[in-house]
Amino acid sequence: MRLSINILLLATAHLAAATGNPTKKQLENRTKPFSIGIVLFPGFEPLDVIGPFEILQSVSAYYPMTVSFIASQTGPISSRSPPHVMVPGEPPVNLDHLIAVSLHATHTFSTAPKLNILLIPGGMGNMVLVENNDTSIETFINQRYDELDYLLSVCTGSVSLARSGVLKRRRATTNKSFWAWVGQFGEKIKWVPTARWTQDGKIWTSSGVAAGMDMTYAFLSKLYGAQGVLNSIMSAIEYAPHTDPSWDPFSVVWDVPGASQGGSLESCVKPAGW
Ligand SMILES: *[C@@H]1O[C@H](CO)[C@@H](O)[C@H](O)[C@H]1NC(C)=O
Ligand SMILES: *[C@@H]1O[C@H](CO)[C@@H](O)[C@H](O)[C@H]1NC(C)=O
Ligand SMILES: *[C@@H]1O[C@H](CO)[C@@H](O)[C@H](O)[C@H]1NC(C)=O
Repeated sequence: MRLSINILLLATAHLAAATGNPTKKQLENRTKPFSIGIVLFPGFEPLDVIGPFEILQSVSAYYPMTVSFIASQTGPISSRSPPHVMVPGEPPVNLDHLIAVSLHATHTFSTAPKLNILLIPGGMGNMVLVENNDTSIETFINQRYDELDYLLSVCTGSVSLARSGVLKRRRATTNKSFWAWVGQFGEKIKWVPTARWTQDGKIWTSSGVAAGMDMTYAFLSKLYGAQGVLNSIMSAIEYAPHTDPSWDPFSVVWDVPGASQGGSLESCVKPAGW
């Protein structure tokens, strides 16, 4: 571990020379111990949580932060969705045959510590929460909204933001293969059809699943500055983030109404900082 951190530091010094300098606020943020909350619910999408977490864990070697995993109850929360109504009017479909992973919730909605940053993932379980009229995540968002510096959602996690009301008159995006389903929630939301991620004030939302990693990179670049630590981490985990929020071929693939057809469907990534 120590060795790999030293290697990262060497890479850091090398990259720092190649890119822009952080602002005063970004330098201050680097010493501020951010308290981060990540919400879990049965049927969360694994990568929505672990993708951003992978980057955060690496960043925590350099900049102070804590992460709390927050759910209705503490203990293991499975990524396997409870039975779910796939076709309206038909009985719920049992999903017990799906493989799954559990993550450990450290806090409940009532015991969660004070938070600076809250991330809401998506997943099939979102739909079950809606079917069950479960509004615990929305209530939590509303209770904590004012204390938060930033509120982020990945994929269909934006449904909880929409249902809580915080997206009113704001730009947001979501999983492009579930566009029509998500669009029924909330009022006066400016859903952006072609967007890998969006930022509006303190709210960041990303498109489906893997897009959460690109949003996390963009978000942390804003928070800390990308040069040095963040860019070397991306190279260390060998992930080339999309850095153009309007790069969104999946809006075309999934036929989202109003999607921009003008962009290239081809990827345009390169290692961060190059
Ligand atoms: C959820 O609310 C709707 C509308 O009020 C109702 O028809 C439905 O039965 C409720 N579902 C559950 C699981 O309580
Ligand atoms: C949207 O979400 C579904 C279910 O979570 C997932 O299978 C799919 O890959 C996602 N689509 C995109 C474009 O990310
Ligand atoms: C962190 O950095 C951003 C971007 O420079 C700045 O707007 C913000 O005020 C800083 N502090 C916090 C708590 O986000």
